Amino acid sequence: MAMQMAFLADPRPDKVNLSLGVYKDSLGLPTVFESVRAAEVAIHSSFSGKEYQPIEGNAQFLKSATGLVLGAAHSDSELYTAQTIGGSGALSLLAAFIRSEISKTLILPQPSWPNHPIIFRRAGFELQEISCYDAVNHRLDFSALCSGLLQAPAGSVVLLHACCHNPTGLDPSFEQWCELSDLMKRHRLLPLFDCAYQGFGSDWDSDARALRYFYEQGHEMFIAYSFSKNLSLYGERVGMLLLTAAPGTSSAVIGTHFKELIRSRYSTPPLHGGRLAAEVFRSPSLCASWQQELSAVRNRVNEMRQQLAEGLQGSNADFAFLKQQKGLFSYSGLSPEQVKLLRDRHAIYMLSTGRINVAGLNPSNIDYVVNAIRSLL
Ligand SMILES: Cc1ncc(COP(=O)(O)O)c(C=O)c1O
Repeated sequence: MAMQMAFLADPRPDKVNLSLGVYKDSLGLPTVFESVRAAEVAIHSSFSGKEYQPIEGNAQFLKSATGLVLGAAHSDSELYTAQTIGGSGALSLLAAFIRSEISKTLILPQPSWPNHPIIFRRAGFELQEISCYDAVNHRLDFSALCSGLLQAPAGSVVLLHACCHNPTGLDPSFEQWCELSDLMKRHRLLPLFDCAYQGFGSDWDSDARALRYFYEQGHEMFIAYSFSKNLSLYGERVGMLLLTAAPGTSSAVIGTHFKELIRSRYSTPPLHGGRLAAEVFRSPSLCASWQQELSAVRNRVNEMRQQLAEGLQGSNADFAFLKQQKGLFSYSGLSPEQVKLLRDRHAIYMLSTGRINVAGLNPSNIDYVVNAIRSLL
């Protein structure tokens, strides 16, 4: 927020904001999908009141969303789902549930989204962090991740980014996901997937491949899901939580816990966003146009990442690693000093870790950013 204020106050006309956590189009503007606008019109014309929703939210939304995330082959009977206030709301409810019923230890591979430690510490967790970014080679340090997990107490919960890792853009390969699944099963570690960027990486189904694989392997698992980015519904606060019941625990028992958690916090989730999402998912034509719009977003982000990497090629540093990263974010490999110089000299804003929001790049500023970075190398 402080960085955004500083950016807005900066009078330099060429300024570029790569620090945000939201998608911007090629003109640097926020996006509302046409499919979502059409769903809004459809809802408006069949006005169906403003009553409170059930505690667990919109059943139609939950059914369609679960199918979209886990695939058509999942079985509803083994799952518990509830609509939440964005992905953050899902994380926070899951944290409260897990802390009281499952485990007080959260294994948090780092770096991660800065809100993760805040949410889980607040919920009373003991955090065990595993440092698994290889800064020299700009890669996921998979062996550090595995050895950290092997040392974790059995029964702990492990937070994993389902795809498009925030902040690094580095996801395990599918083979590595399979290894993780196996290791976590053997050591009785429970996965908690944070899935906030499905559709921004390779394609809709590939981005859910890790989640679906863990689900097929029968893990007792938790998912905190956000539709903020992939439906571009940020302020509508649309998310959901999903969990598979441990053997011997019925989803009715789990439901009683969650209903109490939700009732005591905010009573029922907001109406409009879930209704909008459900309308997009319900209509085959809206759903197909939404997926096309999301593909266009993904292609634009990938194109910008490609142009950044290519623009920096042949400079004194190798930036080919950028092409391996996926999603909205990229760990640029720039040092805190370089980040400061970019801001002071060129009005280019990014996080001090070097994380950039690739969607902050567009045809009007890409050359400016490339030249500014090259001037520091
Ligand atoms: C990794 C990650 N998880 C969860 C969220 C939360 O999303 P929401 O805005 O739906 O609460 C975000 C949002 O930036 C995120 O980056």
